[in-house]
Amino acid sequence: MFDLCRLLNIRYPIIQGAMGHVTGGAMAAAVTRGGGLGTIASAEKPLEYVQREYRLAKELTDGPVALNIPVNNSRCADIARFVLDEHVDVVVTSAGSPKAFLADWKREGIRVISVVATVEHARKMSDAGVDVIVAEGMESGGRIGSMTTMTLIPQVVDAVSVPVVAAGGIADGRGIAAAFALGACGVQIGTRFLFAEECPVHENFRRAILAAKSADVVITGRPYSYRGEARILRNALYEKYIEMEKSGAADEDYKPLFDASMPRALVEGDVENGSPMVGQIVGMCSRVQPAAEIIRELVDDYNRQPGLPRIS
Ligand SMILES: Cc1cc2nc3c(=O)[nH]c(=O)nc-3n(C[C@H](O)[C@H](O)[C@H](O)COP(=O)(O)O)c2cc1C
Repeated sequence: MFDLCRLLNIRYPIIQGAMGHVTGGAMAAAVTRGGGLGTIASAEKPLEYVQREYRLAKELTDGPVALNIPVNNSRCADIARFVLDEHVDVVVTSAGSPKAFLADWKREGIRVISVVATVEHARKMSDAGVDVIVAEGMESGGRIGSMTTMTLIPQVVDAVSVPVVAAGGIADGRGIAAAFALGACGVQIGTRFLFAEECPVHENFRRAILAAKSADVVITGRPYSYRGEARILRNALYEKYIEMEKSGAADEDYKPLFDASMPRALVEGDVENGSPMVGQIVGMCSRVQPAAEIIRELVDDYNRQPGLPRIS
């Protein structure tokens, strides 16, 4: 199996997925100190936020820190420049292609990971020269594609010439073992890290995810509609969205419902009228723990699975 740990200079092949508005520098550093790769989300934040959080993380850990750039971000070019100037350890791009910046980043020896949700996108990113592909199945929280982890990972593995990391619906050792069996060399985890003590979510959101069962998780949006699909906890916003769908609302009518709805739920704590984004695996996550303890548990649980090479 490809040695992801060596490439990224981490102890365990576990990446904490970026989560917009919540995974800042302290959270990313806590994950890296625990032996995984912590990722700062830049979401729609200003450049100053990205600079501050990355520098904070680098003060809190000697290990590598990743920075996520959704390439549809209006500040993408500025953040891409910061990546170069600061010599950021690892860039994780999502929501499109980082092609415009790739040559500069690679020339500086910056590791580039691209998150994809289709086989075709994976092939393009592999051909473009990214170091690693994260293939994210639609079980995941946040914005989603339409293929499941089970169907996406083996097809991406067959289609590309770079190492593949699996994401979407992984929260214990069995999930990691399954990802390896499908041909991945590591995992990216979001939802379970929402339960990390260091993850600065609002208390209302935390209470909601602690109580949530997987059957409470629904999808808002459609591929053709305003800002695409997202996986969230069923709430008043969801009911409103369904009513609008039934009445044939126009794309722009959804704007007031969905604009800034993610921070409204996760940061401001309005879990009824915001988008409390979370993955289907939430029903299996039931405890708030330090990030390093989550990683230790994942590794120990994986190592208990019979007949598999140990990770240590
Ligand atoms: C609340 C939330 C916010 C997210 N925000 C982002 C983001 O800003 N950028 C990104 O690339 N992925 C984002 N994701 C996806 C995660 O990085 C990760 O790939 C995904 O959560 C993995 O699936 P899981 O939730 O089943 O573990 C988000 C996921 C969640 C749950």
